[in-house]
Amino acid sequence: EGRDYSEAVVIGTGYGAAATALRLGAAGVPTLMLEMGQLWDTASSDGTIFPSMLNPDKRSMWFKTRTEAPLATFLWLDVINKDITPYAGVLDRMHFGDMSVFVGRGVGGGSLVNGAMAVTPKRSYFEEILPEVNAAEMYDVYFPRANANLGKNDIDPAWFETCDCYQYARVSRKAAQNAGLTTTFVPSVYDFTYMKQEETNQVPRSALASEVIYGNNHGKRSLDKTYLAAALGTGMVTIKTLHEVREITRQPDGTYLLTVRQTDAEGNVLATKQIGAKYLFLGAGSIGSTSLLVRARETGKLPLLGSEVGQGWGTNGNVMLGRANHIWDPTGSLQSGMPAMGIDAWNDPAYPVFAEIAPLPAGIETWASLYLAITKNPERGYFAYDSATDSVTLHWDLAQGQRSIDAAKNLFDKINAANVTVYRSDLFSDTRTFENRFTYHPLGGLVLGKATDLYGRVNGYPNLYVTDGSLIPGSTGVNPFVTITALAERNIEHIIATDIR
Ligand code: FDA
Repeated sequence: EGRDYSEAVVIGTGYGAAATALRLGAAGVPTLMLEMGQLWDTASSDGTIFPSMLNPDKRSMWFKTRTEAPLATFLWLDVINKDITPYAGVLDRMHFGDMSVFVGRGVGGGSLVNGAMAVTPKRSYFEEILPEVNAAEMYDVYFPRANANLGKNDIDPAWFETCDCYQYARVSRKAAQNAGLTTTFVPSVYDFTYMKQEETNQVPRSALASEVIYGNNHGKRSLDKTYLAAALGTGMVTIKTLHEVREITRQPDGTYLLTVRQTDAEGNVLATKQIGAKYLFLGAGSIGSTSLLVRARETGKLPLLGSEVGQGWGTNGNVMLGRANHIWDPTGSLQSGMPAMGIDAWNDPAYPVFAEIAPLPAGIETWASLYLAITKNPERGYFAYDSATDSVTLHWDLAQGQRSIDAAKNLFDKINAANVTVYRSDLFSDTRTFENRFTYHPLGGLVLGKATDLYGRVNGYPNLYVTDGSLIPGSTGVNPFVTITALAERNIEHIIATDIR
């Protein structure tokens, strides 16, 4: 197998990777992106690119024999998950003891599967989590730049009040307001103009056809349509799909050498390649990038990596829960899969919470309100290498998630008391009311200013950079992709100016 070389290599095609590749390409740097998932641009025989959430097939998940939706049951019935053929599908759920982590797989990473909520963190909280980053610069330059390039848009508030597909959000808003709480609209990278046309059946439905977590066939400005399209448009960026980076070493001349496994969509290995790079950017996500570096340190491939590599991982305080509404408060059988509203209780002195009002797009009336609560949980996990299996595992105890449950309970007990309602206990496979055994928002592992310098340069290794969610110390207080993108924009601008040009 011949040896390939590119001046810059970016591992992954998620938010951090995509922003980095666009700026490298625009600066004229030949850049190769390596993505272990597929390019999702071709319709299957059923005419769709992605399967629907209500009728998932092999495209839904990354090499599983059964789908693993976050909402495991309904009325305690195992009616949600389906048997599937193992395949290079779009959503992965990685299991590490008491914690499992959902991630997107494919060109666009998490942007393919996520809820499109484009939330800029509160400045005071950003200053708390990353005090050494110049917040004025972030809020004046990089957050606006990220939002503009991501295609952030805002819902028409008049339409929100009257449309059918956000009745569920209006019902949850009323319940929150009855408890004296504040709600706020959440910006999105789903095209709200398109969504309006979905409701009146002028265009094919996507958000209104229960599409979320296994991909959206229409309406969503995923990274393949924004940053990555622009990156390819520079003519300097190429993307290789179904290429998984397995190992990183450093050559005597200071360049990096990657061992890359190329497969087909059924998982058959087609080739093992060696790819060299002068500048190497890790954008494989919190779990992906951290695992690569922890393994490189522990196997002696990059022995100078320090002890901060693999530390500082958090769940962004994620907890999912449902409430049962009264019979006179139906949430609607038509629900937009893209959330548009949150309950903002981040100023609570004991238990800060930002709770997104999530859909339960079952296609039937459920009288249920679903939420993904983002809480402030100071607990952190870490990554360790297991030589017996030659793999890296995340260590997080269930008890570490208790603080998140306490915070969510503090908020939703108030809502239930004010509305004389109760929690749903049928949604998470047993009778639990709070689900904190998974996260959608893995953050940290290669924290900015700890495992790296203040621009994502890995300590001890020149020309090796981290660009993704692993830089963020376990929490952003809101849905994370805007923060990840803005930080990547800031870092790559500095790195191009000082290291590359
Ligand atoms: P990201 O995970 O996006 O990308 C990493 C890429 O690298 C993937 O494509 C992966 O396949 C690839 N990769 C990994 N290892 C590799 C290797 N060894 N070799 C080659 N490629 C490799 N956030 C938000 O702000 N608003 C929201 O509404 C939501 N909703 C939401 C819903 C669901 C279901 C999920 C799973 C997640 C969200 N999120 C979200 C979270 C958001 O999607 C997430 O924070 C970002 O995608 C993380 O961006 P990164 O750049 O860190 O990596």
